[in-house]
Amino acid sequence: MKRIAVFASGNGTNLQAIMDAISRGALKADLALVVSDKRRALALKRAARRGVKTLLLDPKDFGNRRDYDAALLGFLKKENIDVVVLAGFMRILSPLFVRAYKNRILNIHPALLPAFPGDSAIKDAHRYGVKVTGVTVHFVDEKVDHGPIIVQVSLPVRDAETLEDLEKRIHEAEHAIYPQAIASVLAGEAVLKGRRVLRRRKKS
Ligand code: GRF
Repeated sequence: MKRIAVFASGNGTNLQAIMDAISRGALKADLALVVSDKRRALALKRAARRGVKTLLLDPKDFGNRRDYDAALLGFLKKENIDVVVLAGFMRILSPLFVRAYKNRILNIHPALLPAFPGDSAIKDAHRYGVKVTGVTVHFVDEKVDHGPIIVQVSLPVRDAETLEDLEKRIHEAEHAIYPQAIASVLAGEAVLKGRRVLRRRKKS
């Protein structure tokens, strides 16, 4: 079974959805490590509650991004991590890291990329007045919110929908889609062709 690490800085609701999918057998993966850059991240508590190994790496303890990422890579190597799953990790990974895990880092973004990149995507889309928004799962490359798209789901924005309601629906969609997308990558069903990710159903 493939060994994955989830990186999370905050609430960890996507981490929770991943752990729940593993528990019910919908996602066949060995969650070997949860990494956070924030001591107070609820994600760390959620992982510990499940008995998953956690690692807090505080950027303050490192001189620069490269040193931080080099240390991180050391821990991942020790744990034999195959695939890195970003779930609300609020740090940009350096080229050193991205190259070491080329096409083996996934991210989830709460908008239909390339629309509304950045860390306030739901609010930005809501404020813009879009009629449709959604969720994107993509491979991570050296540019932010840019790598090849694995899957997207769209959500129509309801008339007069509040930001809070839209956020809630986006997060529900994330929790449904992310474990599935991770499963397809781990099963080798998401095949990269340039910028395109093709779905190849494996015969069982
Ligand atoms: C999610 O909306 C995800 O799309 C974005 O950060 C948020 C993380 O939420 N990258 P949570 O910590 O998983 O609850």
